[in-house]
Amino acid sequence: MVIVDDLSTGRRANVPSAARFQHLDIRSPEAAVLVREGRFDSMFMLAAQMDVRLSVADPVADASRNIIGTLNLLEAARHAPHRPRVIFSSTGGAIYGDASTPPSPEESTKDPESPYGISKLSVEYYLAYYARTHGLDTVSLRYANVYGPRQDPHGEAGVVAIFCQRLLDSRALTVFGNGQQTRDYTFVTDVAAANVLASTAKLPGVKRLDDRAINIGTGIATSVLNLAESLQRAAKVNVPIEFAPKRDGEQQHSSIKNEKAAKILGWKPNVKLEQGLSETYNWFKKP
Ligand SMILES: NC(=O)c1ccc[n+]([C@@H]2O[C@H](COP(=O)([O-])OP(=O)(O)OC[C@H]3O[C@@H](n4cnc5c(N)ncnc54)[C@H](O)[C@@H]3O)[C@@H](O)[C@H]2O)c1
Repeated sequence: MVIVDDLSTGRRANVPSAARFQHLDIRSPEAAVLVREGRFDSMFMLAAQMDVRLSVADPVADASRNIIGTLNLLEAARHAPHRPRVIFSSTGGAIYGDASTPPSPEESTKDPESPYGISKLSVEYYLAYYARTHGLDTVSLRYANVYGPRQDPHGEAGVVAIFCQRLLDSRALTVFGNGQQTRDYTFVTDVAAANVLASTAKLPGVKRLDDRAINIGTGIATSVLNLAESLQRAAKVNVPIEFAPKRDGEQQHSSIKNEKAAKILGWKPNVKLEQGLSETYNWFKKP
């Protein structure tokens, strides 16, 4: 197994010792050579700029990493003598937007509200193109809000990391608006399992964009207030909850259907919210 990362947000310490690590930018010619010559069976494309707010502040930087970087490796995979199956980390939390009524199935209208969501959806269109035109074997996994140990506070489920740190510092948890906005929190090991299943599953043919796109989420909508309370129970720590003004442009509700993942991948989420929150909090708590 080879792991490619430029360590822009990732950490060398998280690379398992059994893996070979290549400190490369996915936009580089060296990364393309690795994919072309590596004789890989699967290519899991997780490397990305994943901060929605950063994508709003600098859409060019977001597109450079998320679209151009991915295209660099797709072109390499297309020309490889031994072509890998491409398993792309897309988002179910940021491409459907408020145009769809949650829980959203894969065929819902897509109306991403941020450059990050637009870049992920653009890559999905490229994947469908590479599959139809060049016969590349591709699949997009549209994750809900992924949380768990090692998570970064800037990601799509960053609120879990932020709340964990606040609990450790015995500070109040800040909830924006009335706290009734909902998200679909999915534990990281369930997402990893979906990737492994997608690397060998029998996949449908590709006629339309959604044919090879699979939601990976619980289908359960959890409000921010409910999350704050559940995390306090899981951590066995109580702090006050503070309310702050609603944030502009924040999506109100997001959750995704997961029946297609069950049918095609034989996948279902195994980790219940309180168990996942407890594992996450314990990781943040460790010395
Ligand atoms: N966390 C979520 O809730 C969530 C939800 C939906 C989709 N995703 C997607 O899952 C994937 C993993 O997300 P994450 O939350 O673990 O984020 P992360 O920032 O922890 O992981 C992304 C990794 O990509 C690396 N990277 C960034 N740009 C690179 C480049 N140009 N070349 C090489 N490496 C580069 C970073 O160093 C980092 O290790 C991303 O594609 C993200 O868009 C995440």
